[in-house]
Amino acid sequence: MITIETERLLLRPFTADDLHAIYAVLSRRAVWQYDPGKPRSLDETRTLLDRWIADYEHLGFGRFAVVSKETGAIIGYCGLQWLLLDHGVYKSPEVEIFYALTPEYWGQGFITEAAQSVIQFAFSEIKLKRIVSTALGDNTRSIGVMRRLGMRVARDPFEQDWIVGIIENPLVATPAPALAIAGIH
Ligand SMILES: CC(C)(COP(=O)(O)OP(=O)(O)OC[C@H]1O[C@@H](n2cnc3c(N)ncnc32)[C@H](O)[C@@H]1OP(=O)(O)O)[C@@H](O)C(=O)NCCC(=O)NCCS
Repeated sequence: MITIETERLLLRPFTADDLHAIYAVLSRRAVWQYDPGKPRSLDETRTLLDRWIADYEHLGFGRFAVVSKETGAIIGYCGLQWLLLDHGVYKSPEVEIFYALTPEYWGQGFITEAAQSVIQFAFSEIKLKRIVSTALGDNTRSIGVMRRLGMRVARDPFEQDWIVGIIENPLVATPAPALAIAGIH
């Protein structure tokens, strides 16, 4: 089981025992208002949590519980999921980073810290070529996270309400042609 430690946080896969802790996060209006746009019941949250756990087991990566090292409490989630980025006639399968934090912990850089470590893990361990993020255009806090993560941020050309952030894996940089040719000769 993968755990990631940062200065202030521990990121670990979810277990069924986390139901009430994650329900406490997800049931906050400020957390659900953009995604999914309405509150979930405890039963719906249980179904969701079961899916996160199954996805993680199936793929070997997924959504991490974000745990405060200071209190041991789950304060949010951050992780990776498959996403079909739908650009009208173009559809590209991507891996998306996404996150949420209980409001008392906003404004202290916790999700930037968590997401930086997930991106580092995704680039160096899973060896993803790139990671995307999406947010509604008025979700300024989420877009702020994308910018702090160093993502290129642009309005989705086909879905004007949406913002897309993209970060490329610097470890997968294409060698300059001159160097590649020099290498062959
Ligand atoms: C998206 C969300 C996680 C962002 O939370 P956040 O607290 O704004 O983001 P961070 O944890 O990175 O904190 C950044 C803030 O802390 C400040 N900060 C303080 N110390 C910091 C540090 N060491 N590093 C980075 N930022 C720091 C930043 O200046 C920034 O301040 P601001 O609020 O004045 O802009 C939160 O708004 C949320 O849970 N929203 C609901 C769920 C959601 O919409 N998720 C995205 C779906 S697309």
